[in-house]
Amino acid sequence: MTNTFSRRRHLLAVALLSGLALIACSKKEAPTAAPAASAPATASRVYAVGTDAAYAPFESQNEKGEIVGFDIDVVRAAASKAGIEVKFVNTPWEGIFNALNQGDRDILVSAITITDARKQTMDFSSPYFDAVQLIAVKTDSKVAKFDDLKTLKVGVQTGTTGDEAVSKLQGKNSPNIKRFESTPLALKELESGGIDAVVADNGVVINYVANNVGSKFKTVSDNSFAPEQYGLAVKKGNTELLAKLNQGLAGIKADGTYDTLFKKYFGTSAGAVGVKAAPAASAGIK
Ligand code: ARG
Repeated sequence: MTNTFSRRRHLLAVALLSGLALIACSKKEAPTAAPAASAPATASRVYAVGTDAAYAPFESQNEKGEIVGFDIDVVRAAASKAGIEVKFVNTPWEGIFNALNQGDRDILVSAITITDARKQTMDFSSPYFDAVQLIAVKTDSKVAKFDDLKTLKVGVQTGTTGDEAVSKLQGKNSPNIKRFESTPLALKELESGGIDAVVADNGVVINYVANNVGSKFKTVSDNSFAPEQYGLAVKKGNTELLAKLNQGLAGIKADGTYDTLFKKYFGTSAGAVGVKAAPAASAGIK
């Protein structure tokens, strides 16, 4: 049991290791200005951070209803580095970008992949995590690659990069794409046999499979999935807040906090493992 668990943690760590490569690659922004530890004008401002807290281990709600996870810890640490105050507000994925645009949220953290389309309507911080899509199927499934999903019923979370990938494979209007409000709902439907597969971010799928052994799932990876990177989002043009977030992210990378958090959630040290040059990292920072 323990062995299986730690092996899975190890797999998860390996699968996510690329997340730290970009950390190594983006350390160039040495803060020139002293961090505004007590900027008088903004000291009382509390920034509202929207997050769809149904995406463990990045963001979820614990038994007490508190929002917890890797993303939460990263933003909290980065905010404190940058001398800003934040509070987290559970915000359903389907309305999350609107909430930002309308000013109901100042920042979004939600394992959000930086995409060219999204960059049209919001601004992203420097990337803080590498990810890729991963397929979840039942252990007895014959699915061996993404293309095998062409004519199968596939569950995705609406409007995610998983949705985009499957839409590309099957056609946007394919009746075999089953869109769900949340990724856990899609995975539950897979468990009950209503669909044949789920496509979602690797970290979330691996975490779910490891923590729900009774569901009898396995994962199938495919090299054809494009590399993805997560960023924090702010309203388009909010350069001041974005600069603070980037300063905070750079700070927690530099002082080892990011590495500690990575270790806490993914069971391995970001710094201890060979950091490979990640071409994706530079591609993501435009
Ligand atoms: N990374 C994917 C995307 O940006 C999925 C993110 C979903 N996040 C969440 N908290 N539900 O589309």
